[in-house]
Amino acid sequence: MSHYKPDPNKSVNLTIDGMPVTVPEGTRILEAAEKLGIKIPTLCDHPDLCKRSLCRLCVVECDGRGKLMAACANDVWEGASVVTNNLRIMNIRKTIIGLILANHPQECLTCVKNQKCELQSLTETFGIRESPFRREAALNKAPKIESETLVRDMNKCVKCGRCVEVCQEIQTVRAINSSCRSTQYEICTPYEQALSDGPCIFCGQCAAVCPVGAIYEYDQSGEVWTALNSADRHTVAETAPAVAEGIGREFGLPPGTITAGKMVSALKLIGFDKVLDASVSANETAGEEFRELLDRIKNRSRLPLITSCSPGWFNFARKFYPDLLDHLPSAKGNSGVSAKTRYAKESGIDKSKITFVYITPCIGKKHEAMNIRINGCRDADAALTSREIARMIKLAGIDIANLSGTPFDCIKAGSRDDVPGGVMEAIVRKVRNAYTGENAETPAYNDVQGNERIGETAAEIQGAKIKALAVDGLANARIVMEAIRRGECDAAFVEIRCCPNACGASDGCGAAT
Ligand code: SF4
Ligand code: SF4
Ligand code: FES
Repeated sequence: MSHYKPDPNKSVNLTIDGMPVTVPEGTRILEAAEKLGIKIPTLCDHPDLCKRSLCRLCVVECDGRGKLMAACANDVWEGASVVTNNLRIMNIRKTIIGLILANHPQECLTCVKNQKCELQSLTETFGIRESPFRREAALNKAPKIESETLVRDMNKCVKCGRCVEVCQEIQTVRAINSSCRSTQYEICTPYEQALSDGPCIFCGQCAAVCPVGAIYEYDQSGEVWTALNSADRHTVAETAPAVAEGIGREFGLPPGTITAGKMVSALKLIGFDKVLDASVSANETAGEEFRELLDRIKNRSRLPLITSCSPGWFNFARKFYPDLLDHLPSAKGNSGVSAKTRYAKESGIDKSKITFVYITPCIGKKHEAMNIRINGCRDADAALTSREIARMIKLAGIDIANLSGTPFDCIKAGSRDDVPGGVMEAIVRKVRNAYTGENAETPAYNDVQGNERIGETAAEIQGAKIKALAVDGLANARIVMEAIRRGECDAAFVEIRCCPNACGASDGCGAAT
């Protein structure tokens, strides 16, 4: 058992490809090389996941001994002399890629990850035109469509293990696993069951980290095109705030190029009758939650109130903490009605004639739209990720970067009690102001447990402290939920974000994470 605990305040001197470099103790060889501008190729490594060292693409030679070490899994040491590239290392890497390609479908042109696939990019970098190895495995597993949310095409899996790691360690769900060894090694669900039959909460994090097109969102653009081209359908898009940025990334444009206004113009050009801003609904929901929190604090009941805009979190709570569901807000969304029902009511258009489409970076929202029913009604008719809507805009031949902006449509009655801004801070501020009549700002979050993923803030109300927690990622959510279960959580309000890096970490954004 290793007792090695790196001290980040201690410096380590080494040479990489003959160049001297000094880095803090605990730095991986991979990162030390990056500091010198040397990019060592990787496939299984991911910055948010722990060291797994499965693909061996990142091998380097150390101290002239010829011994190969994985640069992603080994920390630097004083006086090390690392070689990242020579003919031997290059040939080993080419052999590894060739072996992977021998068992990978040659379907790049039709793959969802075409031009964004890490294997494709490595193949290009190494100038590999064909695999020298004979194909051993039959690539004939049919892709599985999971709850109209995710597609798992295990023929394309390169067995990097990222999805298993994120599902098991980051989200603590354990819906997918690996089985067997050597050539039989594969990524699977227990007993090959559908994800919906296991603990999967459809957070989409496995798709977000997959380097190839083995796990991706279920494409609903076909049915949306049909609705857009039907004269008797009234089509409504509701877009989440991060979508414009995600579309920009899909078009390869610098951040900030695609404004919300340009996005609305593009959506109108492809045929949507109305384009709504989801943050208006989010603010209304926050208004309802503020009233509910006020009520619960007054009655000292069912605290903390736990809010979230992540559908994956609600699935997580239902599956793992059914005994704590009364801590969730009683109204899901606005007054417990589906987005489509609310729109029909406020616009006066017959609900049967409306096709309501969520456009969101969140794959979990796809699951919510297609599978969760509120008062017997599906939340929306379809949910498109930023990637899907960007493809639709491209297909329509729209030069989105050069469009002028169009404002969002507004159908809101205007009488609701909106709470704009970050949900937790805004609600805590509003609760305090309701008590004190003040208009002061909520204190900034203070990190607790030395971990930025559980942030804490407190408002002083008539001498009493009202504490609120902001939690990122489900592993951290579990810590808080267990404390609530034990009766040891003294917060009045908790906001949980399902994805460890918030909405930007969802693959629907077009973000490589
Ligand atoms: S969607 Fe989330 S819970 Fe389901 S398998 Fe993927 S990472 Fe695990
Ligand atoms: S499905 Fe994707 S993330 Fe999971 S092991 Fe296969 S290639 Fe890696
Ligand atoms: S990237 Fe280092 S072993 Fe895969």
